Amino acid sequence: MKSQAILIVDDDKMTRQTLSMALEDDYEIFTADGGINALQIIGEEKIDLILSDLDMPIMSGIELLEKINDLEGTYPVIFITGQGTIETAVKAMKMGASDYVSKPVNLERLELIIVKTLENKDLKEENIFLKKKIRESYPELKFIGTSEPMKKCEELALQVAASKATVLIEGESGTGKELITSIIHYNSPVAHGPFVKVNCSAFAEGVLESELFGHEKGAFTGAVATKKGRFELADKGTLFLDEIGELPASIQVKLLRFLQERTFERVGGSKTHHVDVRIISATNKDLSQLMKEGTFREDLYYRLRVVQIQMPPLRERKEDLEELVNSFISKFSTMHGKPITRITDEAMELIRAYNWPGNVRELMNCIESSVVMVHGDVLTVESIPEYLTYKIPEVELNSKEGLLNEIERTAIQDTLNNTQGDKVKAAKILGIGLRTLYRKIDKWSLEE
Ligand SMILES: Nc1ncnc2c1ncn2[C@@H]1O[C@H](COP(=O)(O)OP(=O)(O)OP(=O)(O)O)[C@@H](O)[C@H]1O
Ligand SMILES: [Mg+2]
Repeated sequence: MKSQAILIVDDDKMTRQTLSMALEDDYEIFTADGGINALQIIGEEKIDLILSDLDMPIMSGIELLEKINDLEGTYPVIFITGQGTIETAVKAMKMGASDYVSKPVNLERLELIIVKTLENKDLKEENIFLKKKIRESYPELKFIGTSEPMKKCEELALQVAASKATVLIEGESGTGKELITSIIHYNSPVAHGPFVKVNCSAFAEGVLESELFGHEKGAFTGAVATKKGRFELADKGTLFLDEIGELPASIQVKLLRFLQERTFERVGGSKTHHVDVRIISATNKDLSQLMKEGTFREDLYYRLRVVQIQMPPLRERKEDLEELVNSFISKFSTMHGKPITRITDEAMELIRAYNWPGNVRELMNCIESSVVMVHGDVLTVESIPEYLTYKIPEVELNSKEGLLNEIERTAIQDTLNNTQGDKVKAAKILGIGLRTLYRKIDKWSLEE
């Protein structure tokens, strides 16, 4: 199997041929007659290792190495040195060359060096990949909070991560459904595999089907090329189906079949594809209610919830509030360059008294906006968004719209202020649909 490619760079045609013949049984071989040609090939092909002469006209081996060092990615270079160039070879090693062999080349020794160098390269790349992954995901990949319900969720997540079981995550908006999905994926045996997310409510029915399952060229107008769907892209990894309650009936059937047989066809195609994918789905709707209404298939529901995780709303685990608040304060003061060190008892009391319909996301946004607003180094009641502190007026209400309406209007206006007019964010925090939000903004002519 020739899975790796070697580029041989030498101005001497004989050397190129000899080396090619010696290596072509085990590797894919490319050849270049000089540095310029070599760089061109590196740009076009997937090269794993470069075997180069040191002493070449126009661009020397050292100059080529310098150029390669500037490229992104790992390209180990092994030099071939003539009699008088050992000193240069040592210099090349100091500049990052992987190794060198002297002429006349002992082919057996060269092959050993190549194997060792390629192994090293794999290790180096895996190391870079892992470090990047840890850096990217670590701070976000942990639940804050040690309440009983939170601990249960975490334990369950780690337990189910080890298996390949299909998981259904239920919970209100902002309770951490996506977060727990990431925790499951990155703690699973396929953590290095793809992690593909699809929001089922974000596409029209026809588009969603081809997003998920792909389509063949010519399957519909506009299908100019064959396209892989997310199931295929997630092969040997995890597919996260968010807002599964929004899945149209026709696609529910296809998903059910996938869960039963692990197979599907692309839109407009007849070939059956098989992929190895773990499905995690999430919803903030009550699926049993949707089943009663007949919009969600019962058989699909049972296939999806082989393991079921219920994310607890914040109001049921208020003992986590303090830890969450403190960690968000520290996160956002660093992010916004503010020196905030603590929160007053009075402000914490307000946070405790509030109901948090938007859960952790709402709390996070609330703390962020407070951190941005406050002067000094302590979070005070004054810096906290007003709707949290909304008190029912004791005096006779002078507004014509009625108390509930007034509370609603104030909450919406404050949220819009806090999100700097970001309506998608505001709707999430308020726990209402975007369309409803637009209607209310219109109704009360609110400022965005
Ligand atoms: N226990 C927790 N500890 C730390 N951060 C959390 C926790 N729960 C949620 N978050 C954070 O809150 C935000 C919202 O979480 P997430 O997106 O996972 O919620 P969700 O349930 O998917 O919401 P929605 O239903 O609106 O999609 C994210 O930034 C997430 O990192
Ligand atoms: Mg989500």
